[in-house]
Amino acid sequence: MAAASTRAAHDAVRVIFLGRPGAGKGTQAALLATHLGVPRISTGEMLRTAIAKNTPLGREAHPLMEKGRLVPDDLLVKLISERTAEVDCRVGFVLDGFPRTLPQAKGLEQMPGGDPRGFIVFDFQVPREELMRRLSGRRWCPSCQATYHLTYNPPRRAMICDSCGSGLVQREDDLEAVVERRLGEYDERTFPLIEYYRSRARVRAIDGNRPQDAVFEDLLQAVEVRA
Ligand code: AP5
Ligand code: MG
Ligand code: ZN
Repeated sequence: MAAASTRAAHDAVRVIFLGRPGAGKGTQAALLATHLGVPRISTGEMLRTAIAKNTPLGREAHPLMEKGRLVPDDLLVKLISERTAEVDCRVGFVLDGFPRTLPQAKGLEQMPGGDPRGFIVFDFQVPREELMRRLSGRRWCPSCQATYHLTYNPPRRAMICDSCGSGLVQREDDLEAVVERRLGEYDERTFPLIEYYRSRARVRAIDGNRPQDAVFEDLLQAVEVRA
């Protein structure tokens, strides 16, 4: 597979990840983007960075995110429209967490390279009990945003980030009551996108309830057999 430096714009790979909180989108998006040599665009990470920097976007997003609610569509469409216009996105991108509503999907279609026929949409499927295990055990590095799990993917030293040495914390929206709200938002506003894309893009269901390597193998197969 071509690396970033050699991938040409006509060979662009554009990928959307759909899946409930904890399904493994962020974990797999990082692996796939590195493998393909394209940027990973995570709206959750962009918003958490905006909160840490106390920007106007961060101040608007924070009270919603800490309650598990979605941030308004117009803010997200603007954020992604600016990000996908950057030169590194000419070779494609992995969208982790966008679009999450129908207006966002329609907003994406207005962006350069946003034609859904050019997208692979992965629908990550994981049972609810497993999602709860993953989110309650997840720990996160506020400095470099690396993600760990106390049991499934522990750091080498307890509660210390392998990559940058900072202390790990629990995400404030991983508390159980907030997770319930996030799952509700997904079912109501994001789940309908699977049907929306079925007639417009290549949709692939992924059994996300397996070890990370097995899930990644499925993703690779799907992107490598594309037309
Ligand atoms: P976001 O950060 O996108 O959160 P999310 O969609 O709820 O998803 P998560 O990050 O919780 O889970 P994930 O699927 O990435 O799982 P991960 O790989 O970490 O969004 C946060 C908030 O921002 C939203 O609630 C909303 O408020 C706002 N927002 C973001 N985008 C928005 C948008 N477009 N519109 C409006 N608002 C928006 O894995 C979870 C854990 O499991 C980890 O500990 C990991 O190590 C472990 N794990 C991963 N894979 C496996 C495996 N195969 N086996 C065992 N463990 C695994
Ligand atoms: Mg994530
Ligand atoms: Zn770190």
